Amino acid sequence: MKPAPEELTSLASENVPAMSDADFAALGRLVRDQTGIVLNESKRWMLTSRLSREIKRLGLTDFASYRRLLEHPDAAAELQALTSAVTTNVTSFFRGADHFHALAEMIPAFKDKLQRGGRVRIWSAGCSTGQEPYSIAMTLMNEWPEVASADIRILATDIDAEVISTARSGVYPAKELEGAEASLLRRFARPGPQPDRIEVLPELRHLVRFEQLNMLGHWPFNGSFDVIFCRNVVIYFDAETRHRLWERFASRLEPEGWLFVGHSERIDRSLETILRPSGVTRYKRCSGAASPKMSNSP
Ligand SMILES: C[S@@+](CC[C@H](N)C(=O)[O-])C[C@H]1O[C@@H](n2cnc3c(N)ncnc32)[C@H](O)[C@@H]1O
Repeated sequence: MKPAPEELTSLASENVPAMSDADFAALGRLVRDQTGIVLNESKRWMLTSRLSREIKRLGLTDFASYRRLLEHPDAAAELQALTSAVTTNVTSFFRGADHFHALAEMIPAFKDKLQRGGRVRIWSAGCSTGQEPYSIAMTLMNEWPEVASADIRILATDIDAEVISTARSGVYPAKELEGAEASLLRRFARPGPQPDRIEVLPELRHLVRFEQLNMLGHWPFNGSFDVIFCRNVVIYFDAETRHRLWERFASRLEPEGWLFVGHSERIDRSLETILRPSGVTRYKRCSGAASPKMSNSP
């Protein structure tokens, strides 16, 4: 993607340092190792623009010194800032509405499972600022007011500490109420700490546990999930990384559990024996398939 003319003007007027091919290649490798995100040439302008703010904040003048700083063993905070700078966090309440309709239809099966002494676990992997897991919680609570007292939990994770902090707060711009799918949000939100803000109700927040987690690293939890939402995350990964991740998700789904992916995403056909497509972006773990070894590690 070429930068828009106003972006070039803004980069020039901000006196942004140039990013050499070597800087771009080295930073690209670092980002890929840290996050799985592949930055191709079209992202060079985005990276230059976002990181030049970091460079200024750190009192540096060029990308070469920034790279050296990131190599330092104590650079954890800076690596985190780099992650925040390169992630794309666009999301909204009830994005991909058909997934929430499908989830509502699963409620009778969840109730059956609970009655048989089971538990229900849902994972929003790559949850960004929390609209996705809160939409899951609203969908359940809308149809099932007693859900808060049932053994049902939503785990919501993201690599980016900044978005997890927003998600935990449950506070959003009031304009989120304007979306076509926002009628449930109007029911489950109240005025927020500032006039132009809303906050989701505490009972909704109690259903969701937010954790910072790189989904390509170790998963510090056991047990399997009835539904995993991993939507609009893997588009930034390469094919091999995506494939490994789908296999790991399959290993963490209950027999007949569901994986929901983003609307432009498809799971490799070679995995159809364990993840059977149902519709375009929903995959069901095949209960008859040989169980993939449950995996905590990449
Ligand atoms: C575009 S948002 C998608 C949010 C939500 N799932 C949706 O569909 O609206 C992608 C999110 O994936 C997160 N992400 C990217 N790489 C990740 C990784 N390796 N582990 C966990 N989260 C990651 C980003 O921080 C970002 O918040």
